Amino acid sequence: MRIGHSGGGSYEPGGPVGHDLGGPVGHEPGGPVGPALAALRWLGPPDGPAIELLDQTRLPADEVFLRCASVPELVHAISRLVVRGAPLLGVAGAFGVALAAYRGDDVEAAAAAIAAARPTAVNLGWGVRRALQSYRAAVSGDSPVPAPKAGALAALAEAQAIAAQDAAASAAMAAHGLALVPAGARILTHCNTGQLVSAGAGTAFAVILAAHRAGRLAQLWVDETRPLLQGARLTAWEARRAGIPHAVLADNAAASLMAAGQVDLVLTGADRIAADGSVANKVGTYGLAVLARHHAVPFVVVAPVSTVDPDTPDGGSIPVEHRSADEVIGIAGQPVAPAGTHAYNPAFDVTPPDLVTAIVTEEGVIQPVTAGNLRVQGSGADAIAGPQSAVYVER
Ligand code: MRU
Repeated sequence: MRIGHSGGGSYEPGGPVGHDLGGPVGHEPGGPVGPALAALRWLGPPDGPAIELLDQTRLPADEVFLRCASVPELVHAISRLVVRGAPLLGVAGAFGVALAAYRGDDVEAAAAAIAAARPTAVNLGWGVRRALQSYRAAVSGDSPVPAPKAGALAALAEAQAIAAQDAAASAAMAAHGLALVPAGARILTHCNTGQLVSAGAGTAFAVILAAHRAGRLAQLWVDETRPLLQGARLTAWEARRAGIPHAVLADNAAASLMAAGQVDLVLTGADRIAADGSVANKVGTYGLAVLARHHAVPFVVVAPVSTVDPDTPDGGSIPVEHRSADEVIGIAGQPVAPAGTHAYNPAFDVTPPDLVTAIVTEEGVIQPVTAGNLRVQGSGADAIAGPQSAVYVER
């Protein structure tokens, strides 16, 4: 395993790693049980302004941080999935607005570019809008601090607040979700939903970790998650660091695994939840939900309230990102199909609400998943604060 930087920065392998998301964390490369490793950190002046991202495209072989000192660099990193996963995209988007403000860029244009980098994860635009609103309020206010500096400080403070909220939401989702995990559970998950996608322990993986710590988890089944292998590369890496018993399976082995009675619960995250409870998540999730229904296995989605989008009425209205054919006709950069072969490569699919047993948010458990129970109020398309405290929860 290689540990280091690309693009500068101040990372010291093995030593304490300062980060701005939740206090100092330690790092022990290679150990079976590892402590938290920040996936994103802000560098203020004089080292910055810059955002350092743990380059998730290079895990698990290399733990390398990529330094983004400009908004185009950040946009490129988001589109390449250097930083990924809905909650962390919200955090990254907000820090991106702060970066633009610190640099003296056109902050409105920068915010638009960042928000457009990936279309499905609603948290990205949500985080950008929150930081932008704070920036706008500060530069138009009558602070004694010069407007550009006041705007930059306000955007940064908002980004840090979003990160802190995300960490708190992770902890609350873990506690609520744990109540749905039976003793001796064999849990199947898809894609990657741990601390790599969050300022805390993540979404579905936070519940899995809580179940492991509570002694309730017998086995974690990790879908490899073609085409980009977030399960095999990232979730297996996180499970190993946490000491969780786990095995990776090819996505198309999930059916026979369920048929064999080896799965008690499916837990996934979400990139956007429409107002009717439709769930967009990594492609392959819908298939798992269909399988789970056929085999009478509960299918539970774990996501913060910031992933619920009241302005998207239903699943058909969710924009699904389509990505390069190269991701499908090759594996890990190696071509497997004849050059020039066409491919169908949606990054996400949409699971209808009737296939979702429950949605766990930081507010509680929504079950059954209906438009009525997932009642989102009072936040129009331009709402900045997002859908906080707007989910009706049946307890
Ligand atoms: O394309 P990615 O890797 O960003 O997709 C991520 C997922 O689909 C996750 O499951 C989702 O963001 C929920 S994680 C909190």
